[in-house]
Amino acid sequence: MKLSDRLIVTIDALDHQGRGIAHYNDFVIFVFDALIGEKVEIEITKIKKKIIEAKVIEILNVSPERVTSICPYFKECGGCDLLHMSYQKQLLYKENKVREIMKKFAHIENVVENIVPNDNVFGYRNKAVFQVKEKIGFFGKKSNELVEIEKCFLLPDIMNEYLSILRNNMNLDFVNQIMMRYSKSFQSLMIVFDVSKEFSNSQIPVKKLSKASVLVKRKEDLEIILGNDFLLEKVGDYTFKVSPNSFFQVNTKQMERLYQIVLDHSGLTKNENVLDLYCGTGTIGMFLSKKAKEVLGIEINESAVKDALWNKKQNCIHNINFKCGDTGSVLKETLFKPDLIVVDPPRAGLDELAISQIKKIHAPKVIYVSCDPVTLARDIKRLEQDYEVITIIPVDMFSNTYHVECVCVLNIR
Ligand SMILES: C[S@@+](CC[C@H](N)C(=O)[O-])C[C@H]1O[C@@H](n2cnc3c(N)ncnc32)[C@H](O)[C@@H]1O
Repeated sequence: MKLSDRLIVTIDALDHQGRGIAHYNDFVIFVFDALIGEKVEIEITKIKKKIIEAKVIEILNVSPERVTSICPYFKECGGCDLLHMSYQKQLLYKENKVREIMKKFAHIENVVENIVPNDNVFGYRNKAVFQVKEKIGFFGKKSNELVEIEKCFLLPDIMNEYLSILRNNMNLDFVNQIMMRYSKSFQSLMIVFDVSKEFSNSQIPVKKLSKASVLVKRKEDLEIILGNDFLLEKVGDYTFKVSPNSFFQVNTKQMERLYQIVLDHSGLTKNENVLDLYCGTGTIGMFLSKKAKEVLGIEINESAVKDALWNKKQNCIHNINFKCGDTGSVLKETLFKPDLIVVDPPRAGLDELAISQIKKIHAPKVIYVSCDPVTLARDIKRLEQDYEVITIIPVDMFSNTYHVECVCVLNIR
């Protein structure tokens, strides 16, 4: 078997990235854009030992669950993975994927609830990072090749309009990336040009971008060209300030649902102390503050902590404080005694120090918000002697991609 060989195979499962899996002799073949039951002619694009990656040349029998992708870049662009599945199928796929991962890596069953769907499966993203190399686009599937795009269906119209303004009016020399963030409540846009030192600010068509905040980033330096160096967004009853380098969930509508799920499972009665670990701009902690005695947020990114302090003041919340630093290290030095610990780490999950400190604190309840079920399952296993999983609620924050958010509620044993 070698590169470019063609084969006919039948897809018998889907992997965790939404790719079809087929078996041929003792090879395992991963095929993008192929559904279970489909017989496909494939061409081998990568081969390593007994693992093959392949692309579809022709679908010989089409699954009834297949839908036609609305995006012309679907096959090349690295953004979406599931545009060939109906939305109902996507939801089922994600729900089952979380169940399988929990069974396989955490050895737990019957804890995963039905997934919470997304009302808007297109136009839901409030952030995009465009790659630039003479043209503007996104990285390709599993590659650093730029796929030029005119429009992304996951973005709101206004972001696509501004993308078009940039494509048609801007000299892109010395631009590496363009980040856009959009606030629906305030109808405002922030555009950050990540550039090399040779870039001249006059390349930016400022007049055509007059309704946006425009910034230029040279290495770590941020220069305001127009407007503000932050965006305001409303989530529930709260207004949040988000600086360019601060984390903010990319699906504003589902973010509110996610936080409401955390609140609903928190068991808070205004008498409890809450630790909000990996707190970003303080969003979850502020949602919980109305039902808590005191909240302490811990976050490593200084810019996010500055935003969090601004957000505390702006929203007149008096029972929340923040510490800047690595979770595990800050916990080691902190005397705060929580009744509830909320963690919302990056994809990598919790590190050893964070796990050991959480175990040491021994709070009655932990709510783990996770964007990667595999690291969630690993961490559940690492906590299993101390904590029992009560429920896991998957939330579809990232429709049309294989990603899934989960809220996992754990009680002390
Ligand atoms: C998935 S985000 C969650 C942010 C916030 N909870 C929210 O919903 O917007 C993860 C956050 O963890 C922060 N972070 C990453 N590593 C960290 C560490 N070792 N200690 C503390 N915070 C960390 C990141 O800067 C980021 O803000």
